[in-house]
Amino acid sequence: MLTRLLYVSTAVGPVTTTVTGTILRSAQTHNAVSGITGVLCQGRGVYLQVLEGERSQVDALYARIALDKRHGNLKLRQQENIQARRYGKWAMAHVDMAYLPDAGAAYSAQSNFDVYSATAEDVMARIDALVAAGKVMNAPVV
Ligand SMILES: Cc1cc2nc3c(=O)[nH]c(=O)nc-3n(C[C@H](O)[C@H](O)[C@H](O)COP(=O)(O)O)c2cc1C
Repeated sequence: MLTRLLYVSTAVGPVTTTVTGTILRSAQTHNAVSGITGVLCQGRGVYLQVLEGERSQVDALYARIALDKRHGNLKLRQQENIQARRYGKWAMAHVDMAYLPDAGAAYSAQSNFDVYSATAEDVMARIDALVAAGKVMNAPVV
């Protein structure tokens, strides 16, 4: 059974390119082995991540990620069984929200869009907009 999970979290400590690079390297290595695909969006102190794959693999990975000290205040926003992957091209695509001015503004403190309280559908729609805008980096084809 394929599942898709969306969670949001708050970065602990500064999100440097080294931190992000290290996370993405682990993600790309492990996810390719366990058949996980997805996207990690990061910017303005928050992470949004979508994990897709076999339910047992996704649940196990989410449990591991939840223990990671580089972020906290994880909130599972959505988990649903799916027929097909949406981000199947990427072991873990990376989108820096800062690269998209509109989306960046949407995540700023001045905006009333808050990834914790917005509907999961809205959060997912914004992720899709970032991906559709082609702002995908570090995204090897599986
Ligand atoms: C926001 C965030 C997203 C992460 N995403 C993944 C992921 O998709 N796959 C993965 O294997 N590890 C991910 N990690 C890292 C794991 O928590 C863990 O550190 C790593 O898998 C351990 O493997 P390693 O020792 O080989 O680096 C993520 C960590 C953070 C903070």
